[in-house]
Amino acid sequence: MMKLGIFFGGRSGEHEVSLMSATSVINAIDKEKYEIVTIGITKEGKWLLYDGPAEHIEDGSWQEEAEAALAADPEKYTITVLGTGGKSLRELIDFALPVLHGPYGEDGTIQGLFEMVDIPYGGCDVIGSALAMDKIAAKHVFSVMGIRQVPYVWIDSEDVPGLHGWLRRKIEERLTWPIFVKPANMGSSVGLSRVAEEKDLCPALELAAKYDRRIIIEQGVNCRELETAVLGNHVAKVGAVGEIIPSNEYYDYSSKYCDGGKTRLCIPADITEEQKKEIRATAVQAYKALDCKGYARVDFLMDKDTGEIYLNEINTIPGFTRYSMFPLLWAEAGLPYPKLIERIIELGMERYRMKCRQSVNR
Ligand SMILES: Nc1ncnc2c1ncn2[C@@H]1O[C@H](COP(=O)(O)OP(=O)(O)O)[C@@H](O)[C@H]1O
Ligand SMILES: [Mg+2]
Repeated sequence: MMKLGIFFGGRSGEHEVSLMSATSVINAIDKEKYEIVTIGITKEGKWLLYDGPAEHIEDGSWQEEAEAALAADPEKYTITVLGTGGKSLRELIDFALPVLHGPYGEDGTIQGLFEMVDIPYGGCDVIGSALAMDKIAAKHVFSVMGIRQVPYVWIDSEDVPGLHGWLRRKIEERLTWPIFVKPANMGSSVGLSRVAEEKDLCPALELAAKYDRRIIIEQGVNCRELETAVLGNHVAKVGAVGEIIPSNEYYDYSSKYCDGGKTRLCIPADITEEQKKEIRATAVQAYKALDCKGYARVDFLMDKDTGEIYLNEINTIPGFTRYSMFPLLWAEAGLPYPKLIERIIELGMERYRMKCRQSVNR
């Protein structure tokens, strides 16, 4: 039986979202096929081995029950599980499935650590994760590929005070109100603002700067939100296209997680076949452009007035509860939730074997 390490929690602002995703994943996995090892990461970044019930993950009480901790052991170039007589993480698990959202989970950092200690893992590797996490880096790559996206301006938050005049000119030159201000490395709409007039720009920049040094300012679009799901390594398959109909003016944190189900997911999306075709083709192009592997959800904005479709972002560890868009898009395409998780594990193993073969030649 494969010892499957599920990593949940994490240091990012999306810690709670991860607890929900991980609980769902743990409950769905076929326990006859996989021996599950759950590793919780606290908000402070402490790694704890947890073997209590999955129900105690979502409310945070797992932390009191977690026992052995994991610590980096620089002498052995490994991560040691404390309290087990020096067992390493590599001995504890055969495969790592990070169900972590946002920085330190979805951004290539933990993926780099798995590479260092030679553990196969699910999802994108370092470069795909890092590029997709940083909205500015991703946009630069998409623009080289000629993928349609909304106009944007980007700044380093350390430059904000001195650059205000420059920034105002750039915004006037390239954008019209309303605009969206976002930390480059965040998710779940945390730190993000819709700014309708110039007087609200400074508070929005200050808010974004709380989360990241890099800030992106984008043209706001009166839009429909369409999403699709990609799965694969070299050969990337695309699932159904769905639409999010948020309960608020846009898809902010509260409409994502706290609106009691008023936000609607419409699967499949009510758009033309031609539009679906464009979305699915662009999704694969974008996935390949960032060198994504395993799986990702690719999000689009469709201008309600002109019908123009813009790529918004790629999420390399999208929300993963049974009711989240990514699994539902695959269910619609004929791949049920437990099978989807198994496929992600297979793809991770496939990529690991390929890397092992190539590293012989390095
Ligand atoms: N340029 C834009 N025009 C209109 N709405 C936007 C734009 N950018 C973001 N939004 C709204 O904000 C939400 C979150 O933005 P997004 O870029 O997807 O960040 P996150 O990584 O936090 O999900 C989107 O789902 C959408 O509702
Ligand atoms: Mg988004």
